[in-house]
Amino acid sequence: MLKRFTVSLEDDLLDEFDNYIKLRQYNNRSEAVRDLIRKSLVMQEWEAGKEVIGVISLVYDHHHYQLQERITELQHDFHHHIVSSTHIHMDHDNCLEVIIVRGKAKKIKDLAEKLMAIRGVKDGNLGMSSTGGDLC
Ligand code: NI
Repeated sequence: MLKRFTVSLEDDLLDEFDNYIKLRQYNNRSEAVRDLIRKSLVMQEWEAGKEVIGVISLVYDHHHYQLQERITELQHDFHHHIVSSTHIHMDHDNCLEVIIVRGKAKKIKDLAEKLMAIRGVKDGNLGMSSTGGDLC
């Protein structure tokens, strides 16, 4: 059931928010506010060290000496946390690896940071999401 509440904002802040809504193509302010609230609840779960789910993406040149082996070895060290991984050959040199992970936030962050810190990894991201809560 949807409930209404009133929010008071300064003109400038509301203008910025409306620009944000336009850029993100929201239909209305309510949907944008709902998403921002959900996002901050997910962040809160990560900060509280709860059970979370995430997506780690890595871009790297597979010619880099032993890089592929290091990435695989590290994933085996964390095998209990890895749900699935997909490898895409982007072009002649570059690979994209997408790893879906779940577990305690601290462990997941640790794995993501270790993977991204491997020499030769050109780009790395951790998409943070959540398994729990009533976010829908
Ligand atoms: Ni590849």
